[in-house]
Amino acid sequence: MPAPATHALPRVSHWPAMLDLAQSLSGLLLALFMWFHMCFVSAILLSEDAAWIVARFFEGYFVFGRALPWLVSVFVALISSLLAVHALLALRKFPADWAQYRAIAAHSDRTRHGDTLLWLVQVATGFAMFFLAPVHLYTMMTRPELIGPFESADRVWSGFYWPLYLILLFMVEIHGGVGLYRLALKWGWLPARNTRDGRRRLALAKWALTAFFLILGLASLGAYMKLGHSHAPLAGEPYVPSWLRAEPAR
Ligand code: HEM
Repeated sequence: MPAPATHALPRVSHWPAMLDLAQSLSGLLLALFMWFHMCFVSAILLSEDAAWIVARFFEGYFVFGRALPWLVSVFVALISSLLAVHALLALRKFPADWAQYRAIAAHSDRTRHGDTLLWLVQVATGFAMFFLAPVHLYTMMTRPELIGPFESADRVWSGFYWPLYLILLFMVEIHGGVGLYRLALKWGWLPARNTRDGRRRLALAKWALTAFFLILGLASLGAYMKLGHSHAPLAGEPYVPSWLRAEPAR
């Protein structure tokens, strides 16, 4: 008698879970990078010299005794690659055709569920960043020596980068805030034993962080615009820190 046919179960693939983990990790790293980035950019709120010190620090000036702008280019290339990986992984989740867009819109309309709406916000802000972030990253990578108080201010004002930065700032802060909130929910990092309290506290932390970095970003951008406006007649002149300026001849 022939042996009964065994119904082999389909092999379970670990790939979807691995890709999800990679998406979470790359998102977390980018969000942490953005917090540091906004703090470093805000050095202009302290003084022009402080912004100069931060810019030269990343060029290794205080370690090697001279500025090596290519160090910044290498770092920007790494961040750009991380962003590209994150975006590629996120593309898997985007609705692919008109029918899928209609389905998600109808679902969101029917359920009126806040977190589903946040997912749509995440898709929209992520999509906007596909176009906005590369402009900034390309400039930072190819002209790293043009980062400094006057140099950045001239780019922001005379180079007319401020509209790009204004939109990018809102996109990145909303995307990052919502992303971290969804990450914490997904992996169960709730700041309370009770799920309802945990979600409420997480949502509060999300809005607080987004508001803080938006205000810091707007203040820094405002400072660069003001400096760029007053420096416009001399646009292109590099900044020299106060302690290296030549004494005026008597
Ligand atoms: C290693 C990579 C990066 C470097 C070295 C860098 C550097 C800078 C610098 C020096 C500024 C001041 C303005 C200027 O000089 O043009 C700036 C502003 C800004 N950057 Fe980046 N950046 C990097 C990555 C990113 C990424 C990945 C994003 C978002 C996707 C981003 C978003 C912004 C925004 C929104 C502003 C305006 C800041 C404000 O409103 O205060 N940057 N960045």
